[in-house]
Amino acid sequence: MLKKVYPERNSDDPSRALLEKRGDLYYPTKEFQKKAWINNGKIYKEAEKAPIKFWEKLAKEIYWQKKWKKAFLHKPPYFEWFSGGKLNLSENCLDKNIPKLKDKIALIWEPESETETANRIFTYKELFQEVNKLANALKKLGVKKGDRVGIYLPMIPEIVVSMLACVRIGAVHTVVFSAFSSQSLKVRLQDTEAKVLITADGYYRRGQIINLKQNADDGINETKVEKVVVVKRAGNEVLWREGRDFWFNDLTKDESDKCEAESMDSEDPLFLLYTSGSTGKPKGILHTCGGYTVQTKVTGKFIFDFHNQDIFWCTSDPGWITGHTYTIYSPLLNGITTLLFEGAPDWPTPDRWAKIIEKHKVTIFYTAPTAIRMFEKYGAEILKKYKFEKLRLLGTVGEPIDEAAWLWYFNEAGKGRCPIVDTWWQTETGGILITSLPGIGPFRPAFTGLPFPGVRFDILDEKGKSCSGEKEGNLVILPPFSPGLLRGIYKNPEKYLETYWSQYGKNVYFTSDGAYKDKDGLIRIIGRVDDVIKVAGHRITTGELEAAINSHFSIDESAVIGIPDKIKGEAPIVFAVYKNDKNKEELKKELIDKIKKEIGPIALPKEIYLVEDLPKTRSGKIMRRILRKIFTGEELGDLSTLANPEIIEKIKNLM
Ligand code: WTA
Repeated sequence: MLKKVYPERNSDDPSRALLEKRGDLYYPTKEFQKKAWINNGKIYKEAEKAPIKFWEKLAKEIYWQKKWKKAFLHKPPYFEWFSGGKLNLSENCLDKNIPKLKDKIALIWEPESETETANRIFTYKELFQEVNKLANALKKLGVKKGDRVGIYLPMIPEIVVSMLACVRIGAVHTVVFSAFSSQSLKVRLQDTEAKVLITADGYYRRGQIINLKQNADDGINETKVEKVVVVKRAGNEVLWREGRDFWFNDLTKDESDKCEAESMDSEDPLFLLYTSGSTGKPKGILHTCGGYTVQTKVTGKFIFDFHNQDIFWCTSDPGWITGHTYTIYSPLLNGITTLLFEGAPDWPTPDRWAKIIEKHKVTIFYTAPTAIRMFEKYGAEILKKYKFEKLRLLGTVGEPIDEAAWLWYFNEAGKGRCPIVDTWWQTETGGILITSLPGIGPFRPAFTGLPFPGVRFDILDEKGKSCSGEKEGNLVILPPFSPGLLRGIYKNPEKYLETYWSQYGKNVYFTSDGAYKDKDGLIRIIGRVDDVIKVAGHRITTGELEAAINSHFSIDESAVIGIPDKIKGEAPIVFAVYKNDKNKEELKKELIDKIKKEIGPIALPKEIYLVEDLPKTRSGKIMRRILRKIFTGEELGDLSTLANPEIIEKIKNLM
């Protein structure tokens, strides 16, 4: 999907270039290569020869209270990594870094308002103390190892403290993105049966205060939540229930700052994170302690080339997997400084993100193509005054990046100097599994790169045959998979089997992504082959939107499709069959409200069409493919299987 090609620009100062072009491909310069952790291809050969041994070697990068007995155990579709080993992720992030790094900054927090002076910075020691205090407080609230704790917090330091405190005492955190609705929160709390929820009074979004406590109060109705811990952030009025609600600071202020880290088995549950699957109901993706910790440590080290002096800014909210792994855990495991920004990267001015990079001397910046396309839309003029002196590496994630956006990112954000790691992964994989390593390359715009060493991928056709040449197929992962791949869907083993291990049998993990390889083996991701759509990098399913719309009493049924969008990558379009008893504009407004209430503002459709019927086959299957073609104006092709071809013209007339 080539939009326009930017003229090539040379680095501002060629002697500082960290990337160079050779033919169609880009490579790190000698200067970058020299300092990188991984700077030659030997690692691929070593990993390919004996992947399990290779991961065992990497596992030594973290601290184990007790060494594992068996590195990899496979009972398809289940598997284990480092079984018998004992460790704690929080201990690895904090205690193990303190001897050398106690006064080093672990976390920089940048508030949304530029005039707010409460610029909060935590050293490793301070973060350790905060985490321990909360860990002790949670224990007093009755939280035990294995209990689930809901976290519904905005991008404030307490989200980091809360996640680490849970992990410290072996509680399984379930972070719910703060922009999700109370209904979305409720569904997740019901599924996990969490007894404690950590939330905030409110937060700022584009200058407005959002009353998060109100959502939390609504969300915990009909759940097992008995105690609510509330961070005071925005100072807005909240309803308070004595005995159930506790201010975060009241609970922690007198607690001891020492709390021994629970000894966790490698395969004990670490956290649950809900994501959209192929049906309306979100799935609780289960990650476990050992494999996730190892993979999180080494993917950050090798892919972002984390070194002592790095200041890393991953723009993802901790409510998503990218925020779990790369805003929080990976930088801390690697003992570097991570930056957490409360607001939107283009508020109050479009160059807010650039100001933050400059102000905090960010060295590595990681964001989604949607953000890059948005920055691009604002124009490069506003970036001229920024030098980004310290920036040395860029990353992108969450959706395919086209060549034009890649080149813009390279030229304008990276000033024509920095390598770009285009990282492919999923909530399920726990960490990055495909990308070019920055000290080796090559980088090819719009291609993510090679599988991470020690992970075997293939691209298969419908019949399970490996695709050769540049043929498109389904991206799959082969045994021994990766240590951080999900271990299950919470309370739903059938769905686990059906979603990931049924297309090609129980030995092959199906990613649900379409992809192909170029002649150098670099992988290009085409996009999802199921009904997941990535709207601004956020993962939602058409099924989940349809369920929300269908629950409106004036709607009989609906079909949602994803269509390409210049900024957001994809956007949902709704076709809803309505009962003819309502003003259409009013009904559309009600549907928008319904979606906001059931899911949240991220899922809002670009367009809603109220229709009499949907194109269906004789067996009653809705033909979404045809709806997509009607929308894009493509040739509709053979319509002979349709039971109601007359509806096509009627829908066309609405466009
Ligand atoms: C897509 C986000 C192209 C893909 C970490 C995957 C990508 C889904 C890339 C998972 C990339 C992620 N290029 N597509 N670099 N990274 N995707 O669970 O379709 O929110 O299956 O995890 O995002 O989305 P999720």
